[in-house]
Amino acid sequence: MPKKFQSVSGMHDIFGLQYEYFEKIREVVKENAKIYGFEGIETPVLENIDVFVRSVGELTDIVEKEMYTFKTKGGDSVALRPEGTASVMRSYIEHGMYTRPQPVKFFYFKPFFRYERPQAGRYRQFWQFGFETIGKGGPLVDAQIITIVYNIFKELGIKGAFVQINSMGDDKCRDEFKAELRKYFRKNTSSLCADCKRRMKKNPLRVLDCKKCIKIKEGAPQIVDYICKNCRDEFKMVLEFLEEVGVPYDLNPFLIRGLDYYTGTVFEFFASQKEEDTPLAVGGGGRYDGLSALLGDEERPATGVAVGVERTALLMKGNGFSFKEEKPPVFIAQLGDLGKKKCIKLFEDLKKAKIPVAEAFGQDSLKSQLSRASKLKSPITIIIGKEEAAENRAIIRDMDSGEQDKIKLEEVLKEVKKRLKKLK
Ligand code: HAM
Repeated sequence: MPKKFQSVSGMHDIFGLQYEYFEKIREVVKENAKIYGFEGIETPVLENIDVFVRSVGELTDIVEKEMYTFKTKGGDSVALRPEGTASVMRSYIEHGMYTRPQPVKFFYFKPFFRYERPQAGRYRQFWQFGFETIGKGGPLVDAQIITIVYNIFKELGIKGAFVQINSMGDDKCRDEFKAELRKYFRKNTSSLCADCKRRMKKNPLRVLDCKKCIKIKEGAPQIVDYICKNCRDEFKMVLEFLEEVGVPYDLNPFLIRGLDYYTGTVFEFFASQKEEDTPLAVGGGGRYDGLSALLGDEERPATGVAVGVERTALLMKGNGFSFKEEKPPVFIAQLGDLGKKKCIKLFEDLKKAKIPVAEAFGQDSLKSQLSRASKLKSPITIIIGKEEAAENRAIIRDMDSGEQDKIKLEEVLKEVKKRLKKLK
């Protein structure tokens, strides 16, 4: 027997109910993107590796441990995109989008790649939807981005979603904070993991993001004590705007985020599958005014968010999201070669008349076809067997009463329309 293959570890197939959740999420994201004025963007799966090293940051877990990288035959170093913001900014700069009316607002829904340890809700290929606003910004934009995601969760039936929020200050106030952090960590070097001993010197903020060095963080200085008046005022405004639209938030002075490009407001969304469960981190984002400069352009105000689609689907399932039952009004059943021929044509005729039809053309037994029809709860079934096909007729069956009539094939469309009108 030849070897049976499995999908690559951490990468999964999407089908069945999970596919339905994905499609529903995509639909709601697209609707909201339209309402809030975001246009779609598709960027390549591969980027020059430096797009991520410079923006996400060389000391982050994503860049140090999780990127899929390789050299092309032409010798270019490329990476499978681990996130979307850097690519969108690269595209904005490359195409000189600063000449358009600002801000430029993009949304996306696509797969990303991180070499993480696979577990429930964590994959090596995972999907995100995201919103990015580039070119003009401020507290109002920050608050609106958060509101959009909150609304999307509500529309998807996810109850009790909340946002944790913090301000990371601008370059100046953060430098002062970093110096204090460095001092603190230097005093406690023996409690740091090997990675953090190295990270502490170049970027002590990354220690705050380390999953191993939890204890030492407790006594560490907090960014709130270092942010300047301007950053503080802006942050207060974001909170006021959120209160205005009724988005619940928790202040989390330790929230730093695992990517280097943030400045000012940062936030993370949480929600639970069941009320009693520990909340799951489902999305995050913030201001990234400095990212364009890291990619070689001048500074451009920007805010964005990305949300994990698999995790959103898990939350929908846990919160009992129910799909509207869509029963196709007509089912077509066939028997015999001539019956098949008439049925494939009838299917196309009904489709042209914009009447949703279902079939089980892969089944030969009439019994199996009718059982599929009753599962789908179609009110009308049309049967063309050998005899009917030879007479150029069809049986039209009312699935509720079981009554059936034989009618001429050319009258089927008219009769179906008449019956559907009565059913409305
Ligand atoms: P992030 O926090 O790295 O942010 O990812 C956002 C969300 O993607 C996470 O909250 C999680 O739901 C999902 N996610 C991340 N990694 C995995 C994984 N391995 N498996 C399943 N889901 C995962 C960003 O990516 C930023 N680009 C967000 C952003 C947009 N900031 C500004 N604009």
